[in-house]
Amino acid sequence: MDWLKYHINPQNSELPVDWKEIFKRDAKIRVEIGFGNGEFLAHMAKKFPEVNFIGFELSITSFVKAQKKFYREGIDNVRLVMVDGRFGIRELFEDESVEHVYVNFPCPWSKKGQEKKRITYGDFAKALAAVLEMGGTFELMTDDKDYAEEVFSKFKESDFFDIEPMKIDFKRDVQTRYEKKWISMGRHTFLIMARKVKRADVERIAWGGKYVHQRIDHFDEERLHLLNGKVFKDKRKVFVVKEIYSSKDGNVHLIKVISSDDGFEQHYNILVERRRNFWIVKLDSTCQPYRTPSVKWSVRKIAQEISLT
Ligand SMILES: C[S@@+](CC[C@H](N)C(=O)[O-])C[C@H]1O[C@@H](n2cnc3c(N)ncnc32)[C@H](O)[C@@H]1O
Repeated sequence: MDWLKYHINPQNSELPVDWKEIFKRDAKIRVEIGFGNGEFLAHMAKKFPEVNFIGFELSITSFVKAQKKFYREGIDNVRLVMVDGRFGIRELFEDESVEHVYVNFPCPWSKKGQEKKRITYGDFAKALAAVLEMGGTFELMTDDKDYAEEVFSKFKESDFFDIEPMKIDFKRDVQTRYEKKWISMGRHTFLIMARKVKRADVERIAWGGKYVHQRIDHFDEERLHLLNGKVFKDKRKVFVVKEIYSSKDGNVHLIKVISSDDGFEQHYNILVERRRNFWIVKLDSTCQPYRTPSVKWSVRKIAQEISLT
């Protein structure tokens, strides 16, 4: 299973990620969001062996296929993170540390009400303008003309970027799976290239405070079970208690939680464990989430709710 070496889990380290440590070298960084089967990343990694490449994806199937491909082709300068690329761009890099960001054939989410799912939605351009080096570029290729025009105007109107005229049916020296598919169906492609010209400041919600523990002196198991199915909301954060499991001896309780920070959803477990004369409420180490405000709040809030005062 050596091909698994490409997959990294930054949830378990302090953010931003120390990419020099991960790659064991100091090199320029380029990122692809939604790498699919990995053709573009593999091609670029071989073409620019002096660059460190990072890919973001949400599909497990793509993850497996891409990793096997990199392994077969002996590629060593790529690492992959299973995370929403919008969160990854904003939270995993220092300011001005990325040379290029690529997005190839993202789902355009064209239907009404789906706008929030688009990769370029919300503060994405601002987050790019924080993490890209001055002069660094964002490149997006799509087969969807309406989406291309929307992205083009977004970057054209932004103070942070200069945008090149949109290129239609531009031939690069690699074609992705979706690119081949759309071209074979007679569709046009649209390439957008925006260059950072001004720095932006962006708030990071998952930096700092990796350890999230609460100690309680008096635990009330009845109050714990009353939390089942309960939803907690506070401004931009929300979490729901999905299920609760207790050990027979009552010394360990596992709480399944789903939380969301402005739509960035995470699934994880919180443990309530008896120590000698007190209890600990903490994140279970088997599925570690990013320490976003909603995650930290869920641990604090649950500790408060199950504590006898
Ligand atoms: C239409 S496919 C394109 C794949 C590949 N880039 C290509 O051109 O063949 C879009 C890919 O983006 C991934 N994706 C969608 N939303 C994403 C997000 N927010 N962050 C990271 N990847 C995402 C999907 O899982 C899917 O693999």
